[in-house]
Amino acid sequence: MPPLPSAPQPDPLFATAPDRRGTGSEKWDRWAGRDVIPTWVADMDFSAPEVVLDAIRARVNHGVFGYTDMPPGFAPALAEHLGRRHGWEIEPEWVTSTPGVVNGLAITARLLTKPGDGIITFTPVYPPFLSLPGLAGRECVRVPLAQASTQWTIDWDRLESAVTPTTKLFWLCHPHNPTGTVFREPDLLQIAEFAARHDLTVISDEIWADLLLDEDHGGPRHVPFASLDHAKARDAITLVAPSKTWNLAGLGCAAAISRDRSLLKRWRPTGGGLVPMINPLGYAAAEAAWRHGDEWRRRLITILRHHRDLVLDTVATIPGLSCAIPEATYLVWIDCRDSGVADPQAACEAAGLGPSDGKDFGFPGFIRLNTACPTDRLREILRRLTRAFSKEPR
Ligand SMILES: Cc1ncc(COP(=O)(O)O)c(C=O)c1O
Repeated sequence: MPPLPSAPQPDPLFATAPDRRGTGSEKWDRWAGRDVIPTWVADMDFSAPEVVLDAIRARVNHGVFGYTDMPPGFAPALAEHLGRRHGWEIEPEWVTSTPGVVNGLAITARLLTKPGDGIITFTPVYPPFLSLPGLAGRECVRVPLAQASTQWTIDWDRLESAVTPTTKLFWLCHPHNPTGTVFREPDLLQIAEFAARHDLTVISDEIWADLLLDEDHGGPRHVPFASLDHAKARDAITLVAPSKTWNLAGLGCAAAISRDRSLLKRWRPTGGGLVPMINPLGYAAAEAAWRHGDEWRRRLITILRHHRDLVLDTVATIPGLSCAIPEATYLVWIDCRDSGVADPQAACEAAGLGPSDGKDFGFPGFIRLNTACPTDRLREILRRLTRAFSKEPR
């Protein structure tokens, strides 16, 4: 791990955030009317970049919002972005749009497996990875990552013993939510080997790929799974979206990337009429973010890295709390099991803090904090975190 960089100059872009109360915000409505700062669902409190807002305004000014398929610039913008950022050269023909990454995962279950088949995933994990297989009548095969002090790592023996002849898919969350793990190339190649040996198709959810925190300080870079020089990797389906990086989740626009064009043709029909078209504002925003959003993204990373370090510093001062160092995302996954607090989520809520509850990720006793808010608010969040686990009466 490289030495931690010093605190950045405050960035006016991220010093304040609009009031989201009363806007239908899932994050802010959960404890509406109570003095609880929400720090759970993975969206940011910051406004989207001006370059994206301009593109949305321009599309609004066009004034016609009829049925909309992929506009001609969408797939090329994504292809250029992946080439520039990750050195992964794709053809625009490999891209199809889909209204969200979760929706994309659900489609792959139906497209590539039959009822009763198994889908492997590492845990703890973003909750839909656990619930979607069952909702599709498939089995979720959970393989816990191994917990170490600074990183969560792959337990290859557990992986090998979990797979069965009916396991057909491997849902890889890369980078991994909630631990912030960035899988390195040797691990990814080993996953490809494992998938080849057991005839699994890998679905790589790379929604967090543009939020690697230490990339500019000698830390790991993102290696797209499907960019590996391995036949199994070339067969993978990659799911991406601009929604985490540029805070566009409410616009519902994502993409699936596959070299198999017949599979892409079956993508939407697999939804059986339940998968809607993407709205034109989502397309406009995505294209602008991929084409013009990098300067904003780099400034965002600076603040998110600082926020990650503030959380780590605070966690280190609270007896019984610990966490591995997240290398990506704006999430910090905190182990509270040695705190003596039986229900960490309830203790946080009582102290005015609303994190995600680890039990939704398959790991009770943990909480997940979202750091994507102005620094002053994060400092208040950390005061409340300390209060939640303090032995003093409140
Ligand atoms: C790993 C991962 N995949 C998918 C999503 C959600 O994607 P979408 O909103 O495009 O369905 C999230 C949201 O937090 C996530 O963390």
